[in-house]
Amino acid sequence: MNNKQKNIQEIINHLKTSGFVYQNSEIYGGLINTWDYGPLAIQMLNEIKKYWIREFITREKNYQIDSKIIMNANVWKASGHLDNFSDYLIENKVNQKRYRADHIVKDLFPEINVEKTTFEELESIIKNKVKEYDGYKCDWTTIRPFNLMFKTQLGAIDNAASITYLRPETAQGIFVNFRNVTRTMRAKLPFGIGQIGKSFRNEITPRDFIFRTREFEQMELEYFCLENESEKFYKYWIQKCQEFIILLGLKKENIRIRPHEKEELSHYSKGTSDIEYLFPFGWGELLGIANRGNYDLSQHMKFSQESLEYLQEDGSKVVPYVIEPSIGLDRLLLALLIDSYEVEKLDKNDERIVLKLDFNVSPYQLAIFPLLKKLAPHAQKIYDELLKNTNFRLIYDETGSIGKRYRRQDAIGTPFAITIDFESLENNTVTIRNRDSMIQERININEITLYLNKFKK
Ligand code: GAP
Repeated sequence: MNNKQKNIQEIINHLKTSGFVYQNSEIYGGLINTWDYGPLAIQMLNEIKKYWIREFITREKNYQIDSKIIMNANVWKASGHLDNFSDYLIENKVNQKRYRADHIVKDLFPEINVEKTTFEELESIIKNKVKEYDGYKCDWTTIRPFNLMFKTQLGAIDNAASITYLRPETAQGIFVNFRNVTRTMRAKLPFGIGQIGKSFRNEITPRDFIFRTREFEQMELEYFCLENESEKFYKYWIQKCQEFIILLGLKKENIRIRPHEKEELSHYSKGTSDIEYLFPFGWGELLGIANRGNYDLSQHMKFSQESLEYLQEDGSKVVPYVIEPSIGLDRLLLALLIDSYEVEKLDKNDERIVLKLDFNVSPYQLAIFPLLKKLAPHAQKIYDELLKNTNFRLIYDETGSIGKRYRRQDAIGTPFAITIDFESLENNTVTIRNRDSMIQERININEITLYLNKFKK
């Protein structure tokens, strides 16, 4: 099945009923477009983060920090978010709903490149051509910018000085710690500082399940280097990001790189490329790599009046350039789940849902079943020993027929299942079943670790 043939609603229903995603605040009727992650998604997210730390921090000899979600409000003045971090909204007076202007145009006129369209043009297209939208006749207001930062208040006194914001990206926490890391770690250019954390944007129209939400998680790296090396490292991190998502199991044919055109670039950007994924609802940005020049550090120098220059060995000072690979965890999770989702016909009356997730990111890696309840104590003993002596993610199940248990594991992506039967008691062997081929073989219990280790990356 290719991704365009996949039914996103069917996938969402599957994820909601099998332990990946829950409606937020469900018992109160939910909170619109807000989702909580269940145990299975968390196991996957934990693994994705481990691989990111390995590939973007440890193996690259970079540094990881954890800055706070709430920072000094001056950070957002300096970064430009207070003045410029806006989407354009337009309201339909008939149903009093606000929409992102570019989303309306993208939905109704796919031939128009909204990235290149000015907000005046968006307004004119909508006012002149969109007479009905979202099931309502239209009477549009003028278009206006809407700042996406969540405003909040620090402490008990409600005045202008107490206003602050939830961070809309983790990146700024890195820039303002640049000098701290350089000094305390004696970091030498080029080097990167990364962090994983929640970001918040008051999106006008969150949509497409966990693709666009108001609270989401980012894995960002700011890679500091000299200007004359920035192009080289820009290309390097584009390549690295691509390899990273393929390592996690995404299919190459569902990924493309889209360099931003000049008109789309932020005023400070020397180059930006998105890696897009073919979601069932169309190509969408999965992550971005930007050459931000030395804009951020320079801005923070200007606003804080502190030097963020880097002292070179020859005694000269420089404000480093920065290359930023920025990955949204929620979107990556969604892409991995969509990529792996298959409905397979087994015979005329039977089909199975199977998540063909990579061994290394699947919620569980090995399921353990007793063939019959009678064998449960023996199977549980094997389960406990494997839990104690290995790091594999294991799940035990003794309810229902073996066939049903296999289906349940297929549906949550467990790549292998072992069954303990009567022969196991005699010769210490078990059957091991492959999720994708459904082929079973007999192996000695002592070989399980060796068998599974072959799939580690
Ligand atoms: N520091 C750069 C930055 O934040 P961005 O392109 O705005 O750049 C980076 O965001 C990534 O964060 C996106 O590629 C996407 O994966 C994720 N992201 C951004 N907004 C999001 C949202 N509302 N919901 C889910 N993920 C989002």
